[in-house]
Amino acid sequence: MDGNGRWAEARGLPRIEGHRRGSESVRDVVRAARELGLQALTIYAFSSQNWARPVDEVTALMQLLCDFVRDERDEIMQNGIRLRTIGQIERLPAFVQAPLAALVADSAAHTGMTLCLALSYGGREAIVEAARSALADGVAPAQLDEATFSARLPTRDLPPLDLLIRTSGEQRLSNFLLWESAYAELYFTDTLWPDFRRAHLGAALDAYRGRERRFGLTSAQLSDITEDN
Ligand code: FPP
Repeated sequence: MDGNGRWAEARGLPRIEGHRRGSESVRDVVRAARELGLQALTIYAFSSQNWARPVDEVTALMQLLCDFVRDERDEIMQNGIRLRTIGQIERLPAFVQAPLAALVADSAAHTGMTLCLALSYGGREAIVEAARSALADGVAPAQLDEATFSARLPTRDLPPLDLLIRTSGEQRLSNFLLWESAYAELYFTDTLWPDFRRAHLGAALDAYRGRERRFGLTSAQLSDITEDN
Protein backbone atom coordinates (compact mmCIF):
# COMPACT_ATOMS: atom_id res chain seq x y z
CA MET A 1 0.00 0.00 0.00
CA ASP A 2 2.80 2.35 -0.95
CA GLY A 3 2.47 6.05 -1.70
CA ASN A 4 0.04 7.30 0.94
CA GLY A 5 2.51 9.84 2.30
CA ARG A 6 3.52 11.13 -1.13
CA TRP A 7 -0.12 11.39 -2.21
CA ALA A 8 -0.81 13.67 0.75
CA GLU A 9 2.40 15.68 0.50
CA ALA A 10 1.72 16.39 -3.20
CA ARG A 11 -1.54 18.06 -2.09
CA GLY A 12 -0.06 19.96 0.83
CA LEU A 13 -1.94 17.69 3.25
CA PRO A 14 -0.65 15.92 6.38
CA ARG A 15 0.58 12.36 5.68
CA ILE A 16 -2.28 10.90 7.67
CA GLU A 17 -4.72 12.20 5.04
CA GLY A 18 -2.95 9.95 2.58
CA HIS A 19 -3.36 7.01 4.94
CA ARG A 20 -7.05 7.85 5.37
CA ARG A 21 -7.57 7.91 1.64
CA GLY A 22 -5.44 4.73 1.40
CA SER A 23 -7.86 3.00 3.79
CA GLU A 24 -10.64 3.77 1.30
CA SER A 25 -8.58 2.05 -1.38
CA VAL A 26 -8.36 -1.01 0.86
CA ARG A 27 -12.14 -1.08 1.16
CA ASP A 28 -12.62 -0.75 -2.61
CA VAL A 29 -9.96 -3.32 -3.50
CA VAL A 30 -11.20 -5.88 -0.95
CA ARG A 31 -14.75 -5.57 -2.31
CA ALA A 32 -13.53 -5.85 -5.90
CA ALA A 33 -11.32 -8.85 -5.09
CA ARG A 34 -14.25 -10.67 -3.51
CA GLU A 35 -16.57 -9.88 -6.40
CA LEU A 36 -13.94 -11.03 -8.89
CA GLY A 37 -13.71 -14.36 -7.03
CA LEU A 38 -10.15 -14.15 -5.72
CA GLN A 39 -9.43 -16.88 -3.21
CA ALA A 40 -7.19 -14.78 -0.99
CA LEU A 41 -5.89 -11.24 -0.69
CA THR A 42 -3.08 -10.21 1.65
CA ILE A 43 -2.65 -6.52 2.45
CA TYR A 44 0.71 -5.29 3.75
CA ALA A 45 -0.72 -2.72 6.15
CA PHE A 46 2.07 -2.30 8.68
CA SER A 47 5.58 -3.72 8.63
CA SER A 48 7.81 -4.64 11.57
CA GLN A 49 9.94 -1.70 10.50
CA ASN A 50 7.02 0.79 10.47
CA TRP A 51 7.14 0.97 14.29
CA ALA A 52 10.15 3.28 13.85
CA ARG A 53 7.99 5.97 12.17
CA PRO A 54 7.07 9.15 14.11
CA VAL A 55 4.87 8.25 17.05
CA ASP A 56 1.99 10.47 15.84
CA GLU A 57 1.89 8.64 12.51
CA VAL A 58 1.96 5.22 14.19
CA THR A 59 -0.85 6.24 16.55
CA ALA A 60 -2.96 7.53 13.65
CA LEU A 61 -2.36 4.32 11.67
CA MET A 62 -3.49 2.20 14.63
CA GLN A 63 -6.67 4.28 14.85
CA LEU A 64 -7.33 3.83 11.12
CA LEU A 65 -6.83 0.10 11.50
CA CYS A 66 -9.29 0.01 14.37
CA ASP A 67 -11.80 2.03 12.30
CA PHE A 68 -11.37 -0.39 9.41
CA VAL A 69 -12.11 -3.42 11.58
CA ARG A 70 -15.14 -1.71 13.10
CA ASP A 71 -16.53 -0.37 9.81
CA GLU A 72 -15.94 -3.53 7.75
CA ARG A 73 -17.23 -5.99 10.32
CA ASP A 74 -20.73 -6.27 8.84
CA GLU A 75 -19.48 -6.58 5.27
CA ILE A 76 -16.98 -9.29 6.27
CA MET A 77 -19.58 -11.24 8.22
CA GLN A 78 -22.34 -10.90 5.62
CA ASN A 79 -20.14 -11.89 2.68
CA GLY A 80 -18.51 -14.96 4.18
CA ILE A 81 -15.03 -13.42 4.18
CA ARG A 82 -12.49 -15.09 6.45
CA LEU A 83 -10.31 -12.48 8.14
CA ARG A 84 -6.93 -13.53 9.42
CA THR A 85 -3.64 -11.85 10.22
CA ILE A 86 0.06 -12.47 9.91
CA GLY A 87 2.71 -10.68 11.95
CA GLN A 88 3.35 -9.88 15.58
CA ILE A 89 -0.22 -9.01 16.50
CA GLU A 90 0.72 -8.98 20.19
CA ARG A 91 2.66 -5.75 19.55
CA LEU A 92 -0.50 -3.89 18.48
CA PRO A 93 -2.26 -1.74 21.08
CA ALA A 94 -5.12 -3.42 22.95
CA PHE A 95 -7.77 -1.17 21.37
CA VAL A 96 -6.84 -2.68 17.97
CA GLN A 97 -6.08 -6.21 19.11
CA ALA A 98 -9.45 -6.79 20.80
CA PRO A 99 -11.83 -6.02 17.87
CA LEU A 100 -9.38 -7.61 15.43
CA ALA A 101 -9.15 -10.86 17.41
CA ALA A 102 -12.94 -10.93 17.77
CA LEU A 103 -13.50 -10.55 14.02
CA VAL A 104 -10.81 -13.13 13.20
CA ALA A 105 -12.52 -15.60 15.56
CA ASP A 106 -16.06 -14.80 14.37
CA SER A 107 -15.14 -15.18 10.70
CA ALA A 108 -12.87 -18.22 11.11
CA ALA A 109 -15.35 -20.73 9.67
CA HIS A 110 -16.19 -18.63 6.61
CA THR A 111 -15.42 -20.23 3.27
CA GLY A 112 -15.40 -17.18 0.99
CA MET A 113 -12.35 -15.08 0.23
CA THR A 114 -9.61 -14.98 2.84
CA LEU A 115 -8.58 -11.43 3.69
CA CYS A 116 -5.21 -11.49 5.40
CA LEU A 117 -3.87 -8.35 7.07
CA ALA A 118 -0.10 -8.28 7.47
CA LEU A 119 0.41 -6.26 10.65
CA SER A 120 3.70 -5.73 12.40
CA TYR A 121 4.84 -8.22 9.77
CA GLY A 122 8.25 -8.91 8.32
CA GLY A 123 9.15 -11.72 5.93
CA ARG A 124 12.56 -12.29 7.48
CA GLU A 125 11.08 -12.34 10.96
CA ALA A 126 8.53 -14.94 9.81
CA ILE A 127 11.29 -17.14 8.38
CA VAL A 128 13.37 -16.87 11.56
CA GLU A 129 10.30 -17.71 13.64
CA ALA A 130 9.64 -20.81 11.52
CA ALA A 131 13.26 -21.93 11.92
CA ARG A 132 13.04 -21.36 15.67
CA SER A 133 9.88 -23.45 15.94
CA ALA A 134 11.49 -26.32 14.02
CA LEU A 135 14.51 -26.22 16.32
CA ALA A 136 12.34 -25.98 19.44
CA ASP A 137 10.37 -29.05 18.28
CA GLY A 138 13.60 -30.96 17.77
CA VAL A 139 13.04 -31.49 14.04
CA ALA A 140 16.01 -33.42 12.64
CA PRO A 141 17.86 -31.62 9.80
CA ALA A 142 17.06 -34.43 7.38
CA GLN A 143 13.35 -34.09 8.16
CA LEU A 144 13.23 -30.42 7.28
CA ASP A 145 12.27 -29.80 3.67
CA GLU A 146 10.36 -27.08 1.83
CA ALA A 147 6.98 -28.55 2.69
CA THR A 148 7.64 -29.04 6.39
CA PHE A 149 9.24 -25.60 6.62
CA SER A 150 6.32 -23.92 4.81
CA ALA A 151 3.97 -25.57 7.28
CA ARG A 152 5.65 -23.53 10.02
CA LEU A 153 5.18 -20.19 8.28
CA PRO A 154 2.22 -17.98 9.24
CA THR A 155 0.93 -18.24 5.65
CA ARG A 156 0.60 -22.04 5.87
CA ASP A 157 -3.17 -21.99 5.37
CA LEU A 158 -3.15 -19.51 2.48
CA PRO A 159 -3.04 -20.59 -1.17
CA PRO A 160 0.28 -20.18 -3.02
CA LEU A 161 1.06 -16.53 -3.79
CA ASP A 162 0.32 -15.91 -7.47
CA LEU A 163 0.55 -12.15 -7.85
CA LEU A 164 2.30 -9.48 -5.81
CA ILE A 165 1.36 -5.86 -6.54
CA ARG A 166 3.50 -2.93 -5.44
CA THR A 167 2.25 0.59 -5.96
CA SER A 168 3.93 4.01 -6.20
CA GLY A 169 6.80 3.15 -8.52
CA GLU A 170 8.94 1.36 -5.95
CA GLN A 171 10.48 -1.87 -7.23
CA ARG A 172 11.46 -3.91 -4.21
CA LEU A 173 9.84 -6.38 -1.84
CA SER A 174 10.56 -4.53 1.42
CA ASN A 175 10.45 -7.66 3.58
CA PHE A 176 7.01 -8.79 2.34
CA LEU A 177 6.25 -12.50 1.91
CA LEU A 178 9.86 -13.29 1.01
CA TRP A 179 9.52 -17.06 1.04
CA GLU A 180 6.06 -17.04 -0.51
CA SER A 181 7.03 -14.78 -3.42
CA ALA A 182 9.56 -17.26 -4.84
CA TYR A 183 7.36 -17.92 -7.90
CA ALA A 184 4.90 -15.04 -7.61
CA GLU A 185 4.41 -12.75 -10.57
CA LEU A 186 5.51 -9.25 -9.62
CA TYR A 187 3.50 -6.26 -10.81
CA PHE A 188 4.80 -2.74 -10.31
CA THR A 189 2.71 0.33 -10.98
CA ASP A 190 3.42 4.04 -10.60
CA THR A 191 -0.09 4.60 -9.23
CA LEU A 192 0.02 5.77 -5.62
CA TRP A 193 -1.97 3.53 -3.26
CA PRO A 194 -4.66 6.16 -2.46
CA ASP A 195 -5.47 6.27 -6.20
CA PHE A 196 -5.40 2.46 -6.59
CA ARG A 197 -8.95 1.22 -7.01
CA ARG A 198 -10.98 -1.60 -8.62
CA ALA A 199 -9.91 -0.67 -12.16
CA HIS A 200 -6.24 -0.77 -11.19
CA LEU A 201 -6.69 -4.22 -9.66
CA GLY A 202 -8.34 -5.29 -12.90
CA ALA A 203 -5.34 -4.01 -14.89
CA ALA A 204 -2.95 -5.94 -12.64
CA LEU A 205 -5.00 -9.12 -13.08
CA ASP A 206 -5.05 -8.62 -16.86
CA ALA A 207 -1.26 -8.31 -16.83
CA TYR A 208 -1.04 -11.45 -14.69
CA ARG A 209 -3.18 -13.41 -17.15
CA GLY A 210 -0.76 -12.46 -19.92
CA ARG A 211 2.26 -13.91 -18.12
CA GLU A 212 3.68 -17.34 -18.81
CA ARG A 213 4.47 -19.02 -15.50
CA ARG A 214 7.10 -21.62 -16.20
CA PHE A 215 8.22 -22.62 -12.68
CA GLY A 216 11.65 -23.45 -14.08
CA LEU A 217 10.34 -25.43 -17.07
CA THR A 218 10.59 -24.51 -20.75
CA SER A 219 7.66 -23.18 -22.77
CA ALA A 220 7.63 -26.42 -24.79
CA GLN A 221 7.33 -28.50 -21.63
CA LEU A 222 4.45 -26.34 -20.46
CA SER A 223 2.65 -26.88 -23.79
CA ASP A 224 3.09 -30.65 -23.38
CA ILE A 225 1.61 -30.53 -19.88
CA THR A 226 -1.37 -28.47 -21.11
CA GLU A 227 -1.97 -30.92 -23.97
CA ASP A 228 -1.78 -33.92 -21.60
CA ASN A 229 -4.47 -32.35 -19.45
C1 FPP B 1 2.54 3.01 2.99
O1 FPP B 1 2.58 4.36 2.57
C2 FPP B 1 1.47 2.78 3.97
C3 FPP B 1 1.67 2.44 5.28
C4 FPP B 1 3.02 2.28 5.83
C5 FPP B 1 0.56 2.24 6.24
C6 FPP B 1 -0.78 1.83 5.68
C7 FPP B 1 -1.73 1.53 6.78
C8 FPP B 1 -2.95 2.08 6.94
C9 FPP B 1 -3.52 3.04 5.95
C10 FPP B 1 -3.73 1.74 8.18
C11 FPP B 1 -5.08 1.19 7.88
C12 FPP B 1 -5.01 -0.23 7.46
C13 FPP B 1 -5.97 -0.86 6.79
C14 FPP B 1 -5.82 -2.30 6.47
C15 FPP B 1 -7.22 -0.20 6.37
P1 FPP B 1 3.82 5.30 2.93
O2 FPP B 1 3.47 6.05 4.19
O3 FPP B 1 5.06 4.50 3.02
O4 FPP B 1 3.83 6.28 1.73
P2 FPP B 1 5.09 7.02 1.11
O5 FPP B 1 5.98 5.93 0.56
O6 FPP B 1 4.49 7.86 0.03
O7 FPP B 1 5.71 7.82 2.21
